[in-house]
Amino acid sequence: MIKLVPTENFTTSINGESIAIYTIKNQNGLVAQITNYGATLVSLWTPDRAGDLNDIVLGYDRITDYLKTENSYFGKTIGRFGNRIGNSQFSINGKTYHLNKNEGDHHLHGGETGFHTAIWKMLEITDTYIKLKHLSIDGSSGYPGNLTTTVTYSLTNDDCLQIDYTATTDTSTHINLTHHSYFNLEGQGNGNILDHSLQILADTYTAVDKDLIPTGEINPVSEALDFRESKKIATHLSAQQTTKGYDHNYVVFNDSEDPVAILSAPQSGRVLKVYATEPGLQFFTGQGIASKIRGKQGTQYGDYSGLCLEPQHFPDSPNKPHFPSTLLLAGEVYQSQTIFKFSAK
Ligand code: GAL
Repeated sequence: MIKLVPTENFTTSINGESIAIYTIKNQNGLVAQITNYGATLVSLWTPDRAGDLNDIVLGYDRITDYLKTENSYFGKTIGRFGNRIGNSQFSINGKTYHLNKNEGDHHLHGGETGFHTAIWKMLEITDTYIKLKHLSIDGSSGYPGNLTTTVTYSLTNDDCLQIDYTATTDTSTHINLTHHSYFNLEGQGNGNILDHSLQILADTYTAVDKDLIPTGEINPVSEALDFRESKKIATHLSAQQTTKGYDHNYVVFNDSEDPVAILSAPQSGRVLKVYATEPGLQFFTGQGIASKIRGKQGTQYGDYSGLCLEPQHFPDSPNKPHFPSTLLLAGEVYQSQTIFKFSAK
């Protein structure tokens, strides 16, 4: 039975700006809850092979818990830039911009006050979709340009959670938006994801240094990193000693009708297919998930409680001219789409 996160737990205001939680659904009974704080997906209910609905994303029951811990980025919209920018700087037309350093010398997920902490404006809501907007002013976290972003979450009747992004700027800037849900297709709080099977349509990935900053090399996947045939996540996990799990940006084939990744869970039979317009996919197995605060419905999260499949441009693209560009010029429109399609077998 569906047990939605209580709306009153999210009804508050910060500095005069209202925070709320909104519910969307489709005709097959899929339900999602989204708060305008961080444009965050708080819950997502999808059927297993018996038709029973369960909440399959990690998160918290109340806004106060989201305010206490930002490190895991549960369900967040990440901006202005998903993943890392080395040495927290880049140059555009000979001018260097210094970004907020929130991971050693580096800049991660848009910095401390990235989009995941913004109070987004609710523009439109229907039964099936919600559209949110955020104006990030010139100089925010060190980025140039007044950047207006919208994110729309839709639940379609073919059981997709579709996320559409747009952005425009008045000065050239870099942008790389992504979505940071941790999925557990057996149900949030129900064990870990090591038994899930995963396929990623990628021959190569972007190699990184010890700080997880790309070296610029695009390397063929090793046996441990090879997910071209579906395999259990646990199979070669122990090979990832430095990162204690997977935390890699795959160079995916995003120019066909096929999904870039397919995830499935043995007990529930749930299947998630990821379709995206982005050239990269960050696969992160959730090592280091904070366990101090309990998750939804009192569940205790820990390492590998959920995994992220984050469609994105490559990390540190502003400093790697041979990577697909993340530069957005004044007057241009940034557009990106991610589709998470659910089924059960
Ligand atoms: C992921 C990233 C990880 C880690 C995580 C947040 O997107 O790849 O390195 O920063 O977010 O804890």
